[in-house]
Amino acid sequence: MEFVYASLAVFSLLSLGQSAPVTSCESLTQRLEIPGREQLLGRWTYIAESTNLPGSKVLTKMFAETSWWNLTAANRIDVLTVFQNTKMMGRCFSVTSSFTLENSTFHSEKPYEATSVLLSTGCPDCMVMYSNYTLGRSSYSSLQLLSRRSKISAAELTEFSRQLECLSLPSAAVMDPEKGFCPDPSLHPDAPTIDLTNSFNTMGSNDWILIDKFFRSGEGVKTLIDMIKTFTGAEGKTNQ
Ligand SMILES: *[C@@H]1O[C@H](CO)[C@@H](O)[C@H](O)[C@H]1NC(C)=O
Ligand SMILES: *[C@@H]1O[C@H](CO)[C@@H](O)[C@H](O)[C@H]1NC(C)=O
Ligand SMILES: *[C@@H]1O[C@H](CO)[C@@H](O)[C@H](O)[C@H]1NC(C)=O
Repeated sequence: MEFVYASLAVFSLLSLGQSAPVTSCESLTQRLEIPGREQLLGRWTYIAESTNLPGSKVLTKMFAETSWWNLTAANRIDVLTVFQNTKMMGRCFSVTSSFTLENSTFHSEKPYEATSVLLSTGCPDCMVMYSNYTLGRSSYSSLQLLSRRSKISAAELTEFSRQLECLSLPSAAVMDPEKGFCPDPSLHPDAPTIDLTNSFNTMGSNDWILIDKFFRSGEGVKTLIDMIKTFTGAEGKTNQ
């Protein structure tokens, strides 16, 4: 009988998507099966990210305030439309892209090639997305943490940090929900949002090679920061 109870307990834990307390790197980097896109649909708050693209953390910390994603079902049964709305320097920038879901793996071609999987997490309403992506001739990895809530607990953030350590990724850039979120343009059509989708999608492979070079040279990122600061006046400086 004990065995039956134990099996039932394990079963109900699994069906909740929450595994027993995670400790080892093996469990912290365990990939999730994605049975379909239904559970992923709707609005998510972008909580934190890490990537080994050089200079990215400095830029994110300095200029990105908050971001949220809206996942909607595309016409094709295996495709998700991802709308990202990011507040940077008090302005709203959006990008729309598509993820194809196949065998529990997401693929996207634009704005750049990426392959992503979801990792298991103790946070009940979070999504931890582990990706490899290509910029120009280089490949990078990233880990992104999203939640249905706009703020998560310190313990949940600690688990994410441990996942980063397991994957040898740098420490996270954490968004600040106090900075406020960009409005949903489908509800507030007059809200000024700068849509970057076309600009990104029309970039050619040479543009990405240049951007990659730029990130790989520390001077490039420094120049960009100075340019943005000059462009926006004092705004950038106060965020440091
Ligand atoms: C977000 O998704 C909901 C449905 O899931 C949709 O009604 C709404 O228009 C979407 N908003 C944006 C900005 O795509
Ligand atoms: C599906 O993913 C699993 C685990 O990553 C892999 O072993 C398998 O070969 C994949 N199947 C297909 C058809 O891609
Ligand atoms: C990314 O690449 C690394 C190294 O090749 C591999 O171990 C990892 O499984 C890949 N992750 C994804 C999400 O494809």
